[in-house]
Amino acid sequence: MSRQLEFDIFRYNPQDKGSVPHMQTFVLDETENMTLFIALNRLREEQDPGLTFDFCCRAGICGACAMVINGRPGLACQTKTVDLPSQITLMPLPVFKLIGDLSVDTGVWFREMYQTTESWIHTSKIFDPDAIEERMDNEVAEQIYELERCIECGCCVSACGTARLRDDFLGAASLNRVARFVVDPRDQRTDRDYFEIIGNDEGIFGCMGLLGCEDVCPKKLPLQNQLGFLRRKMGITAIKEIFRK
Ligand code: SF4
Ligand code: SF4
Ligand code: FES
Repeated sequence: MSRQLEFDIFRYNPQDKGSVPHMQTFVLDETENMTLFIALNRLREEQDPGLTFDFCCRAGICGACAMVINGRPGLACQTKTVDLPSQITLMPLPVFKLIGDLSVDTGVWFREMYQTTESWIHTSKIFDPDAIEERMDNEVAEQIYELERCIECGCCVSACGTARLRDDFLGAASLNRVARFVVDPRDQRTDRDYFEIIGNDEGIFGCMGLLGCEDVCPKKLPLQNQLGFLRRKMGITAIKEIFRK
Protein backbone atom coordinates (compact mmCIF):
# COMPACT_ATOMS: atom_id res chain seq x y z
CA MET A 1 0.00 0.00 0.00
CA SER A 2 1.33 3.42 -0.89
CA ARG A 3 2.23 5.87 1.85
CA GLN A 4 0.52 9.14 2.45
CA LEU A 5 3.11 11.90 2.45
CA GLU A 6 2.73 15.04 4.52
CA PHE A 7 4.60 18.05 3.17
CA ASP A 8 5.31 21.07 5.37
CA ILE A 9 6.28 23.77 2.90
CA PHE A 10 7.55 27.29 3.56
CA ARG A 11 5.26 29.93 2.04
CA TYR A 12 6.06 33.60 1.64
CA ASN A 13 5.85 36.12 -1.16
CA PRO A 14 8.24 39.03 -0.44
CA GLN A 15 6.59 41.02 -3.29
CA ASP A 16 3.23 40.95 -1.51
CA LYS A 17 3.06 43.34 1.47
CA GLY A 18 0.25 41.28 3.01
CA SER A 19 2.19 38.03 2.85
CA VAL A 20 3.46 36.58 6.13
CA PRO A 21 6.09 33.79 6.27
CA HIS A 22 4.48 30.54 7.41
CA MET A 23 4.51 26.78 6.89
CA GLN A 24 1.67 25.15 4.95
CA THR A 25 0.81 21.47 5.11
CA PHE A 26 -0.11 19.43 2.03
CA VAL A 27 -0.98 15.73 1.83
CA LEU A 28 -0.23 13.58 -1.21
CA ASP A 29 -0.32 9.85 -2.02
CA GLU A 30 3.13 8.54 -2.83
CA THR A 31 3.58 6.90 -6.24
CA GLU A 32 6.31 4.60 -7.50
CA ASN A 33 9.63 6.33 -8.25
CA MET A 34 8.26 9.65 -7.04
CA THR A 35 10.83 12.43 -6.74
CA LEU A 36 10.29 15.74 -4.98
CA PHE A 37 10.13 17.25 -8.47
CA ILE A 38 7.12 15.06 -9.29
CA ALA A 39 5.52 15.65 -5.88
CA LEU A 40 5.86 19.45 -6.05
CA ASN A 41 4.46 19.56 -9.59
CA ARG A 42 1.50 17.47 -8.52
CA LEU A 43 0.89 19.73 -5.52
CA ARG A 44 0.98 22.77 -7.81
CA GLU A 45 -1.30 21.18 -10.41
CA GLU A 46 -3.78 19.58 -8.02
CA GLN A 47 -3.80 21.69 -4.86
CA ASP A 48 -2.19 25.14 -5.16
CA PRO A 49 -1.24 26.77 -8.50
CA GLY A 50 0.49 29.57 -6.58
CA LEU A 51 3.18 27.31 -5.10
CA THR A 52 6.54 28.74 -6.24
CA PHE A 53 9.64 26.61 -6.86
CA ASP A 54 12.29 26.29 -9.57
CA PHE A 55 13.07 23.47 -11.96
CA CYS A 56 14.68 23.35 -15.35
CA CYS A 57 16.54 20.18 -16.34
CA ARG A 58 15.01 17.62 -13.93
CA ALA A 59 18.28 15.73 -14.28
CA GLY A 60 20.67 17.16 -11.69
CA ILE A 61 22.37 19.42 -14.24
CA CYS A 62 20.98 22.96 -13.94
CA GLY A 63 21.09 23.33 -10.14
CA ALA A 64 17.80 25.26 -10.10
CA CYS A 65 15.85 22.93 -7.81
CA ALA A 66 18.10 23.12 -4.75
CA MET A 67 16.17 23.53 -1.49
CA VAL A 68 16.43 22.48 2.14
CA ILE A 69 14.91 19.02 2.41
CA ASN A 70 14.26 17.90 5.98
CA GLY A 71 16.99 20.26 7.18
CA ARG A 72 19.59 19.38 4.55
CA PRO A 73 20.32 21.24 1.29
CA GLY A 74 19.79 19.02 -1.75
CA LEU A 75 18.36 18.79 -5.26
CA ALA A 76 14.62 18.14 -5.36
CA CYS A 77 14.77 16.46 -8.77
CA GLN A 78 17.36 13.97 -7.53
CA THR A 79 15.61 13.18 -4.23
CA LYS A 80 13.24 10.21 -4.20
CA THR A 81 10.43 10.31 -1.66
CA VAL A 82 11.08 6.63 -0.88
CA ASP A 83 14.36 7.74 0.73
CA LEU A 84 12.54 10.18 3.03
CA PRO A 85 10.18 9.69 5.98
CA SER A 86 6.48 10.34 5.30
CA GLN A 87 6.81 13.77 6.95
CA ILE A 88 8.76 16.05 4.61
CA THR A 89 9.74 19.64 5.39
CA LEU A 90 10.80 21.87 2.50
CA MET A 91 12.43 25.25 3.00
CA PRO A 92 14.17 27.64 0.58
CA LEU A 93 17.97 27.78 0.62
CA PRO A 94 19.21 30.34 3.16
CA VAL A 95 21.89 32.95 2.26
CA PHE A 96 20.35 33.68 -1.20
CA LYS A 97 17.66 36.24 -2.02
CA LEU A 98 14.18 34.77 -1.69
CA ILE A 99 11.97 35.06 -4.77
CA GLY A 100 8.99 33.29 -3.19
CA ASP A 101 8.19 30.07 -1.30
CA LEU A 102 10.99 27.63 -2.30
CA SER A 103 12.48 29.77 -5.07
CA VAL A 104 15.70 31.72 -4.48
CA ASP A 105 17.95 33.78 -6.74
CA THR A 106 21.35 32.07 -6.81
CA GLY A 107 22.32 33.76 -10.10
CA VAL A 108 23.09 37.22 -8.72
CA TRP A 109 25.12 35.74 -5.86
CA PHE A 110 27.23 33.57 -8.16
CA ARG A 111 27.76 36.36 -10.68
CA GLU A 112 29.04 38.68 -7.94
CA MET A 113 31.32 36.01 -6.50
CA TYR A 114 32.74 35.10 -9.89
CA GLN A 115 33.34 38.78 -10.64
CA THR A 116 35.15 39.14 -7.30
CA THR A 117 37.37 36.13 -8.03
CA GLU A 118 37.87 37.23 -11.67
CA SER A 119 36.68 33.87 -12.83
CA TRP A 120 38.13 33.78 -16.30
CA ILE A 121 41.49 32.85 -17.84
CA HIS A 122 43.99 35.69 -17.49
CA THR A 123 46.49 35.62 -20.32
CA SER A 124 48.50 38.16 -22.28
CA LYS A 125 48.31 35.97 -25.39
CA ILE A 126 46.37 37.53 -28.26
CA PHE A 127 43.62 35.23 -29.52
CA ASP A 128 44.34 33.95 -33.00
CA PRO A 129 41.24 32.37 -34.54
CA ASP A 130 43.38 30.68 -37.26
CA ALA A 131 45.80 29.02 -34.87
CA ILE A 132 45.65 25.27 -34.29
CA GLU A 133 44.07 24.33 -30.98
CA GLU A 134 46.73 23.99 -28.29
CA ARG A 135 47.08 20.56 -26.70
CA MET A 136 46.80 20.15 -22.95
CA ASP A 137 48.19 17.35 -20.85
CA ASN A 138 45.38 14.79 -20.34
CA GLU A 139 45.90 14.64 -16.59
CA VAL A 140 45.60 18.44 -16.23
CA ALA A 141 42.55 18.53 -18.52
CA GLU A 142 40.85 15.89 -16.35
CA GLN A 143 41.72 17.81 -13.19
CA ILE A 144 40.11 20.95 -14.65
CA TYR A 145 37.10 18.99 -15.88
CA GLU A 146 36.59 17.54 -12.40
CA LEU A 147 36.41 21.05 -10.90
CA GLU A 148 34.22 22.35 -13.74
CA ARG A 149 31.40 19.95 -12.81
CA CYS A 150 29.89 22.48 -10.36
CA ILE A 151 26.26 23.19 -11.31
CA GLU A 152 26.02 26.33 -9.14
CA CYS A 153 23.13 24.92 -7.15
CA GLY A 154 24.15 26.79 -3.97
CA CYS A 155 23.82 23.80 -1.63
CA CYS A 156 27.41 24.19 -0.38
CA VAL A 157 26.92 27.88 0.38
CA SER A 158 23.69 27.20 2.26
CA ALA A 159 25.37 24.55 4.40
CA CYS A 160 28.34 26.79 5.21
CA GLY A 161 28.64 28.23 8.71
CA THR A 162 30.85 31.11 7.56
CA ALA A 163 28.50 32.07 4.69
CA ARG A 164 25.66 32.18 7.20
CA LEU A 165 27.66 34.51 9.45
CA ARG A 166 29.09 36.90 6.87
CA ASP A 167 27.60 37.77 3.50
CA ASP A 168 30.96 38.70 1.94
CA PHE A 169 32.39 35.17 2.30
CA LEU A 170 33.22 33.72 -1.12
CA GLY A 171 31.99 30.22 -0.31
CA ALA A 172 33.19 26.77 -1.39
CA ALA A 173 31.89 26.95 -4.98
CA SER A 174 33.79 30.19 -5.67
CA LEU A 175 36.96 28.93 -3.98
CA ASN A 176 36.67 25.70 -5.99
CA ARG A 177 36.40 27.88 -9.08
CA VAL A 178 39.62 29.69 -8.12
CA ALA A 179 41.34 26.30 -7.67
CA ARG A 180 40.23 25.44 -11.20
CA PHE A 181 42.17 28.44 -12.60
CA VAL A 182 45.20 27.78 -10.37
CA VAL A 183 45.69 24.38 -12.04
CA ASP A 184 45.00 25.73 -15.55
CA PRO A 185 48.37 26.29 -17.31
CA ARG A 186 46.77 28.89 -19.63
CA ASP A 187 46.09 31.24 -16.72
CA GLN A 188 49.15 33.42 -16.13
CA ARG A 189 48.18 34.68 -12.70
CA THR A 190 50.78 34.19 -9.94
CA ASP A 191 50.21 33.03 -6.36
CA ARG A 192 50.53 36.68 -5.30
CA ASP A 193 47.71 37.62 -7.69
CA TYR A 194 45.47 34.91 -6.20
CA PHE A 195 46.50 36.00 -2.69
CA GLU A 196 45.17 39.49 -3.43
CA ILE A 197 41.74 37.96 -4.07
CA ILE A 198 41.39 35.05 -1.63
CA GLY A 199 44.17 35.53 0.95
CA ASN A 200 41.81 37.06 3.51
CA ASP A 201 38.82 36.33 5.77
CA GLU A 202 36.35 36.77 2.91
CA GLY A 203 38.32 34.08 1.10
CA ILE A 204 40.22 30.99 2.12
CA PHE A 205 41.14 32.14 5.64
CA GLY A 206 37.47 32.66 6.53
CA CYS A 207 36.77 28.97 5.90
CA MET A 208 36.36 27.06 9.17
CA GLY A 209 37.15 23.75 7.49
CA LEU A 210 34.19 21.83 8.92
CA LEU A 211 33.24 20.63 5.42
CA GLY A 212 29.48 20.99 5.51
CA CYS A 213 29.96 22.06 1.89
CA GLU A 214 31.41 18.77 0.69
CA ASP A 215 28.86 16.74 2.69
CA VAL A 216 25.94 18.26 0.78
CA CYS A 217 27.43 18.77 -2.70
CA PRO A 218 25.16 16.79 -5.03
CA LYS A 219 27.94 16.50 -7.63
CA LYS A 220 30.37 15.10 -5.06
CA LEU A 221 33.00 17.69 -5.90
CA PRO A 222 36.27 17.23 -3.97
CA LEU A 223 35.80 20.51 -2.07
CA GLN A 224 37.78 19.33 0.95
CA ASN A 225 40.89 18.74 -1.19
CA GLN A 226 40.52 22.05 -3.01
CA LEU A 227 40.02 24.10 0.16
CA GLY A 228 43.05 22.39 1.74
CA PHE A 229 45.10 22.96 -1.44
CA LEU A 230 44.26 26.68 -1.49
CA ARG A 231 44.80 27.09 2.25
CA ARG A 232 48.31 25.61 2.00
CA LYS A 233 49.14 27.61 -1.13
CA MET A 234 47.92 30.91 0.29
CA GLY A 235 49.56 30.20 3.68
CA ILE A 236 52.92 29.67 1.97
CA THR A 237 52.38 32.82 -0.11
CA ALA A 238 51.66 34.80 3.08
CA ILE A 239 54.90 33.55 4.71
CA LYS A 240 56.90 34.39 1.58
CA GLU A 241 55.40 37.90 1.66
CA ILE A 242 56.55 38.39 5.28
CA PHE A 243 60.16 37.48 4.35
CA ARG A 244 60.03 39.63 1.23
CA LYS A 245 59.48 42.77 3.37
S1 SF4 B 1 34.61 23.91 4.97
FE1 SF4 B 1 34.72 26.13 4.66
S2 SF4 B 1 33.55 26.55 2.80
FE2 SF4 B 1 33.01 24.44 3.48
S3 SF4 B 1 31.16 24.70 4.74
FE3 SF4 B 1 32.90 24.79 6.15
S4 SF4 B 1 33.43 26.99 6.31
FE4 SF4 B 1 32.12 26.75 4.50
S1 SF4 C 1 30.21 22.99 -5.38
FE1 SF4 C 1 28.59 21.40 -5.35
S2 SF4 C 1 27.10 22.15 -3.85
FE2 SF4 C 1 28.40 23.88 -4.40
S3 SF4 C 1 27.32 24.95 -6.02
FE3 SF4 C 1 28.74 23.50 -7.00
S4 SF4 C 1 27.57 21.62 -7.32
FE4 SF4 C 1 26.40 22.87 -5.88
S1 FES D 1 15.88 20.62 -12.04
FE1 FES D 1 17.94 20.90 -12.74
S2 FES D 1 19.11 20.14 -11.10
FE2 FES D 1 17.08 19.72 -10.50
